[in-house]
Amino acid sequence: MPERFAPYGARVARRSLEKVRAGPLLFLPASLLLAACDGDQAVLNPAGRDAQTLASLFWVLLPGAVLIWLFINGLLIYVYRLNRESFSQRSAEALIIGGGIVFPTVVLGGLLSYALSEMPGMRAAGTGTLVEVTGEEWWWRVSYWPEGADAAIASANEVVLPTGSRTEFRLNADDYIHSFWIPVLGGKTDMIPGRETRMSLEPTEPGLYRGQCTEFCGESHALMAFTVRVLEPDAYEAWLEHEASPAVAPQSEPARQGRDLFFSEGCAACHAIRGTAAEGKVGPDLTHLGGRAALASAALPMTPEAVVRWLRAPEEIKPGVAMPAYDHLTGPELEALGHYLVGLE
Ligand code: CUA
Repeated sequence: MPERFAPYGARVARRSLEKVRAGPLLFLPASLLLAACDGDQAVLNPAGRDAQTLASLFWVLLPGAVLIWLFINGLLIYVYRLNRESFSQRSAEALIIGGGIVFPTVVLGGLLSYALSEMPGMRAAGTGTLVEVTGEEWWWRVSYWPEGADAAIASANEVVLPTGSRTEFRLNADDYIHSFWIPVLGGKTDMIPGRETRMSLEPTEPGLYRGQCTEFCGESHALMAFTVRVLEPDAYEAWLEHEASPAVAPQSEPARQGRDLFFSEGCAACHAIRGTAAEGKVGPDLTHLGGRAALASAALPMTPEAVVRWLRAPEEIKPGVAMPAYDHLTGPELEALGHYLVGLE
């Protein structure tokens, strides 16, 4: 077919093929892929049953998609570069029916049944302690309901789970839509104001991992993370018992000074520390703050120095946060607060 009579799409495709120098581009997807394979927040580093299922699905889909991509591109190169002859009526029809109807129906139908067959296991109900998580403006309210308990154990910004059983989650949102996701354990579930959603997860590998909000919820959405600790069942029961207990009294002089500042500065209006007069419900519960792996929804490490940074300028760490700055306090006063709060293990 002469160039000027070729359809517009064919001319564009031919020119694009002539222009492509694909070598360096091939490294880009490869490096992106490898970067996502490891780490405490990686879907291809599964530490739970659901994540394992999703990773297997990915490893089935990937080679399949690559093969189909190579085949289609091979066909394009054949048609536009190697064989410029017209197809016969018969082979054109065979190509359209075979490649356009039969092949996608068989492949997509097979993949759909495979994916659907994995779903009931992921929707199964959990047993044991129920975990209630509420998305707040840019932190996570976490409550544990042990079986038969009539009151929850309040916590925040860290989710602790046992191996060997499925844990049920009840998910809510206080203000905007958030989305709860622990990539190493399974898929994500939206948290919608006024409508409780549920999910369940079955961790298999003990370890310290990371979760993240995956629904844009305002200026500090990207900083709305949390730590996830997976423990063996016995260690989990011991942890739960400790988490239910009231806070320990401060032992050192700076920590005692920090406790006095905590109350004189009015921190108790927003934060609760069980076992003390602090019963605020607006901000995260701090009863066992120092026992958590990170501070400020996983934005900072759990150290007295990080507490000082946070108290001095929370807006710099997490823009838009409701936590006010305590920059009128002196360095030693902030350090005392840091010692008290990190000492709440
Ligand atoms: Cu919460 Cu994004």
